[in-house]
Amino acid sequence: MKIIKEINQDILNSDICLIPTMGALHNGHLSLIEEGKKLGLLTMVSIFVNEKQFNEEEDFNSYPRPIEDDIKILQDLNIDYLFIPESNYIYSKNDFEIIDSGVLGKQYEGSSRPGHFDGVLTVVNRLFELIKPKVAIFGKKDAQQLFLIKEMVFKKRYEIEIIEGKTIRERSGLALSSRNLLLTDSGKEKATLLYTILKEVKKEFRDRRELYAFEVFSSKYPNIVIDYLEILNLETFSKPTEKTYEYIVLLAATIEGVRLVDNIEFKLEGA
Ligand code: PAF
Repeated sequence: MKIIKEINQDILNSDICLIPTMGALHNGHLSLIEEGKKLGLLTMVSIFVNEKQFNEEEDFNSYPRPIEDDIKILQDLNIDYLFIPESNYIYSKNDFEIIDSGVLGKQYEGSSRPGHFDGVLTVVNRLFELIKPKVAIFGKKDAQQLFLIKEMVFKKRYEIEIIEGKTIRERSGLALSSRNLLLTDSGKEKATLLYTILKEVKKEFRDRRELYAFEVFSSKYPNIVIDYLEILNLETFSKPTEKTYEYIVLLAATIEGVRLVDNIEFKLEGA
């Protein structure tokens, strides 16, 4: 595995599968990397904690950065490149395009974290410009992010195939996230409620076809602070209509001051 800080001509001459990360690697990332390795391209993992997508300095400062552990994990996985750029390489001389994530970028996760998705799209766009990958893989846990990245690739007519990596869960149902490292054991236990709620919404909605009110859950699960709970059309990320067939439920909650997101997808038979 080559550890690089800058992109060279060899890389630009190769077919790269890029797996962008902010480090603190867990089995969710590992499953994306395993997907990537199956493609027969050169596999590159990037680790860059992108300041532009954090709307709070404290969140940026406390984001876990176990870089030595990450390097060991990736060495064992035998990937081709680990790209660990400096901020001034990614955002050189402020001469870079700031991507506007549009209306959807200001809703749901974007509503609670102003500027977050502009920051995500801006860095992903920079990575795409610098590396010119053939394929890039992103996890479905961050469903809104994934949707916006696919939209950006479409709008910019990039010839980059975006592969969606499935969400990996602990046995408890808790979706793996680097932020779980910031939770105590009891916080992690509470965090399993996210998936419990999502499964309940899915069941209720399928059985009764009525949107479950946010307030019901807020009072039913007083141990966690729900930020939003939304049922959307999976294809368009807009409000579902009578005709919607595929759905996604988005949920964000704060536990011990740590913001967690999760989602579940489902289809309505006979819709
Ligand atoms: O999902 C993440 O880890 C980040 O948002 C990403 C896509 C690496 C951009 O910084």
